[in-house]
Amino acid sequence: MTARAFTITLLPSKRVFASTGETSILEAAALAGLRLSSSCRNGTCRACLCRLRDGDVRYRIEWPGLSAEEKADGWILPCVAIPLADVKIEADFEEIPPPADTKPGRGRGF
Ligand code: FES
Repeated sequence: MTARAFTITLLPSKRVFASTGETSILEAAALAGLRLSSSCRNGTCRACLCRLRDGDVRYRIEWPGLSAEEKADGWILPCVAIPLADVKIEADFEEIPPPADTKPGRGRGF
């Protein structure tokens, strides 16, 4: 199966970023400089739990920590959810600050 590029839209902010269709929504957000809520990043703690409002996802693990009822109600775990289409999810985010200045000789002690 060939991966396709998709867009991920965060609601209610309407912030949009790209997904390669190969990484989780959480990883795609990080690549776009956005931090979503997370902890374990392996589909068990549910810290990233959010609602899918449009689109479809697959899971990179066989048993993500969701009940069948939660899945039917549109709840997803972005840390292990990979988009199968353009998706819209309800999720707050923070901007990831740019890396500190790493020029040689500045703050590295040598
Ligand atoms: S970060 Fe733990 S389930 Fe997603």
